[in-house]
Amino acid sequence: MQSGHLGVQIGNHVGSKNLDNLGIVSFLQHCADEGAAVLVHPWEMFGHERMPKYMMPWTVGMPAETQLSVVALILSGSFDRLPSTLRICFAHGGGSFAYLLGRLENAWHHHPVARGECEYPPSHYLNRFYADSAVFDQRALQFLVDTMAADQVMLGSDYPFPLGEERVGSLIRQSDLSQHTKAKLLSGNAIRFLGLKNEAPDARDKKAEIPVGSSPLAPSSGQLTYSSYLKVPELLELQQPQSSPPHHDELLFILVHQTYELWFKELLHDLDAVVANLRRAGAAPKSRDEVYEAARLLRRCTEITRVLVEQFTILETMLPTHFLAFRGLLEPASGFQSEQFREIEFLCGLKDEKMLRYHRPTPEAHASLKRRLEEPSLHDVFFGALQAIGKLAPAGQDATEKERFEARARAVHALYQDEHHHRDWIDVCERLTEFDELVVSWRLRHIQLVERIIGIRMGTGGSSGASYLKLTLDKKFFPELWEARTLLTE
Ligand code: HEM
Repeated sequence: MQSGHLGVQIGNHVGSKNLDNLGIVSFLQHCADEGAAVLVHPWEMFGHERMPKYMMPWTVGMPAETQLSVVALILSGSFDRLPSTLRICFAHGGGSFAYLLGRLENAWHHHPVARGECEYPPSHYLNRFYADSAVFDQRALQFLVDTMAADQVMLGSDYPFPLGEERVGSLIRQSDLSQHTKAKLLSGNAIRFLGLKNEAPDARDKKAEIPVGSSPLAPSSGQLTYSSYLKVPELLELQQPQSSPPHHDELLFILVHQTYELWFKELLHDLDAVVANLRRAGAAPKSRDEVYEAARLLRRCTEITRVLVEQFTILETMLPTHFLAFRGLLEPASGFQSEQFREIEFLCGLKDEKMLRYHRPTPEAHASLKRRLEEPSLHDVFFGALQAIGKLAPAGQDATEKERFEARARAVHALYQDEHHHRDWIDVCERLTEFDELVVSWRLRHIQLVERIIGIRMGTGGSSGASYLKLTLDKKFFPELWEARTLLTE
């Protein structure tokens, strides 16, 4: 990899060892660690002695070999253990796997012995591997894309083997797939699989070439464009209504939720940076830069949260009757399963292990929440820094939780009392307070939305709905900052 290789091609077995062999799985783990893409090509086909003629090892043996490899990786639970960062692709459309997935799924559900050791039904793992498009038939290509999803299939030429596609890519180009899907299959998915970045030309050099007063240059193919940088085609493929025919308002429902999740992503990104800055501020109490930087980033978090509070009004343009028309299709999906929302709570210090249970169906989400649960929170790091700058004495071993809480509130109180020396820290406190305040506003507006749309019905996640959500209104990330207000005297 250091000398510029992007990955490896491997055969689909080593003698009698399938891909689920422990040694091979640890090799795949290594590929994931190194960021090497893995292409699996069938070889040394079984039953060779029964296929002496007509290229049957290629036309019959290879698809079965490949199916065997995919099934072995799934049923052995290898995909449960391997990281989702592993990029692995199977040649020839994944062999007979996609076509016979229904049979495999049926066996998994009805015959304990066919279940193997994987945690979920086989179809759960479809997003863990790619298949190439070398299937030579429009209906097969369409079926492959429908089964595997448009993100998991990419152009395969089978070069330099004898059964390759003569005009590479013509099957995809001539298909009825949408332009977006074709773009994914022809290049987008391979760029992702190979871990390539679209290379932007050096902007400075280009600038020098533009004559004054000329109109902007039209980009040439291969250059970074607005859409390829922002992945617009991929983004626009991500709204997939459950209602059929799609209910008009379901698109809005999906988009609003996706927008929230994107902003949650940015919040986590910034809050993590706030934690890192406060940690550094604690390690170097004389340096002020980190404290200012933490306050600056917290200001961004409050501005984002303000937008998130406002945004509910858009969803309130949906009539309750229109939501009820497709609500039943969403069960048992629920806001309880918003991993990022829960991550924000855990990261800020509101940790509740019980909430992990909603994430059992998604092991990766469960694992990252568990990690957040165990890591020091923003709350911990903030008060750790106050200790480091000498504003908070370390609590004695026997101190009760109440005494610790009061000591923390007094530390905040002491900062406010000495404004002249602690303007920077007071700014951080104000931002944290504002963030706390805005998250409560978010909870309140969400409850109003819920009551407006479903009244006092139960939630799809099994809670009592609005009445349950009202109990969350008392939650605060930094109660000491509020307590300090009470301690201040005139
Ligand atoms: C029609 C609109 C909505 C309805 C009817 C609704 C309803 C509910 C209900 C009843 C719950 C309680 C859990 C349950 O039993 O399912 C809940 C939780 C939640 N919802 Fe919504 N919701 C809506 C829109 C949204 C939106 C736009 C977001 C944005 C991300 C969102 C995020 C959440 C989150 C994060 C929770 C968990 C809250 C907590 O545990 O404190 N919801 N929702």
